[in-house]
Amino acid sequence: LYGSVITPVDPRTWKALPQCLMAIGSTGNIDWMLDHVEENKLAEALSQKGYVTSQVVYLKDGEFIIPGFIDTHTHAAQFPNLGKGGQYELLDWLKHVTFPKEAEFADLDFAKEAYYDVVRRSLDCGTTTSCYYATLHLDATKILADATSRLGKRFSVRYAYLRLTLRIPTRSTSIHWIELLSSQKCNMDRTGESPEYYLEKSAEQSLADTSFLISYIRTLPPISSHASIGTAPEPLVQPILTPRFAISCTSECLGGIRDLADRHDRQRRDPKEPRMRIQTHISENRGEVEYTLKLYPDAGSYAQVYDMHGLLRDTTVLAHAVHLTDDEIRLIKERRAGISHCPTSNFNLRSGVAPVGRYLDEGLKVGLGTDVSGGYSTSMLNAIQNASIASKVASMTNIPSPALRDISHSGTVANSKQLVSPPTTPPSEPTEEASNSRFTNRQLPIQTLFYLATLGGAHVCSLSQKIGSFSPGKSFDALLVSVLDEKGAIGVWGREVKCDSDLETKRKKLEENLERFLFCGDDRNIQKVYVQGCLVGGKLFGQ
Ligand code: GUN
Ligand code: FE
Repeated sequence: LYGSVITPVDPRTWKALPQCLMAIGSTGNIDWMLDHVEENKLAEALSQKGYVTSQVVYLKDGEFIIPGFIDTHTHAAQFPNLGKGGQYELLDWLKHVTFPKEAEFADLDFAKEAYYDVVRRSLDCGTTTSCYYATLHLDATKILADATSRLGKRFSVRYAYLRLTLRIPTRSTSIHWIELLSSQKCNMDRTGESPEYYLEKSAEQSLADTSFLISYIRTLPPISSHASIGTAPEPLVQPILTPRFAISCTSECLGGIRDLADRHDRQRRDPKEPRMRIQTHISENRGEVEYTLKLYPDAGSYAQVYDMHGLLRDTTVLAHAVHLTDDEIRLIKERRAGISHCPTSNFNLRSGVAPVGRYLDEGLKVGLGTDVSGGYSTSMLNAIQNASIASKVASMTNIPSPALRDISHSGTVANSKQLVSPPTTPPSEPTEEASNSRFTNRQLPIQTLFYLATLGGAHVCSLSQKIGSFSPGKSFDALLVSVLDEKGAIGVWGREVKCDSDLETKRKKLEENLERFLFCGDDRNIQKVYVQGCLVGGKLFGQ
């Protein structure tokens, strides 16, 4: 590929590369990448690498490549409820809107129809990795994993097209798994806290089903051609243990989930194999927090409920984390668990505004989640937009804790009163000093939002060695974005998307195009979606 590429580096930095040359190998991994190759040096650069110019796919002006989005928290079984129930807060919403819909997944025909669409939809929105919650049903959850298989078979037909356009060497066999995702049934065994029609029989049954599902997912075929070239076969679908939240689980069930994770980790043949991931909800809504502490009187905090059951680990994804105390933040940091920030849902269910800036300053791992259908959009673009708004709300309303009093927009000491009202003139071009300052109670920069939706999410899902950014050895999970409309560069996006000028101007234009895409783009701009180098979705996928 030759053209514009943007890849995150860390929460403050990205690399915007208007003249990047990237080679994708037969495994779907990036073989090598040259950040900057002038057009008149292209032939020379290629011949040094043993390629010729006819092998190159050139991106047009207004087109660029970014890493696929990583949705660190979403409920596959709630897609059929999108847009419903926004008048409720969490616990009533679960009771009146969510549990009745999830219970419908006992019907396997419905599950089949729904889950296929879920995977298709999220791919076309540019999400190449999802941490999915399913329902408590074992058989329906197997179908969620199978849905990816069905799309994978269809995908093998598409593969010829991919070879023609990108000249990525073919694999000998069909690809069975199209999305790097985790799927797992929810554990919900606590009598009295879930409706009788949507409750597991016992902790024992819940754990047995979970264990069975792990084995089932493990039997799903890896990308077999990888084995033939000597790379360890790595399945794209991986299990993740999913105690729904403390309220819906008994202590016996939470402890059993810890034991399952431990047993799995001990049985790994290769230390490089991923350790078992765990996902759950934490401290989303004030009523939920209070009730949790009533149900677990021995725990000093919500986070401690999970910690005393051995569930806070560096492979744990904690969704929401809106109302954590200082001690909980410390504990989560110590355990190296990650946070999935779900701003659309947090607004929609009136849960609150998570202090994401503070989590970043504390060095916690943070990614973004759509939390469908607490969140009403399947698109990570919407999560990015609401993460931005959430940070602006925090910057206008949050009263800083005493330890944070020395932070202000101007870099001078501010008292809490000053920060209650919005700063009148926030710097539009951050100075170097400002760009090194803290995130707490400040609006998040575009670079940070982009990072959260990609590399930040990869860290949260323990996949940062593999996905989230572009570098040699990482998987080519990517989106080809175009901000040109059908007629060329006119229309809403304006003529100025074109950039014929010097490198610095090109770079600025590229950054601007990305910003505009993140804030006012949608799936019409997502032309092609690749997972592990394979075309699996996007506007041009079916054409
Ligand atoms: N807490 C427990 N279950 C759920 C759920 O389905 N969605 C959200 N947003 N929070 C939860
Ligand atoms: Fe959720």
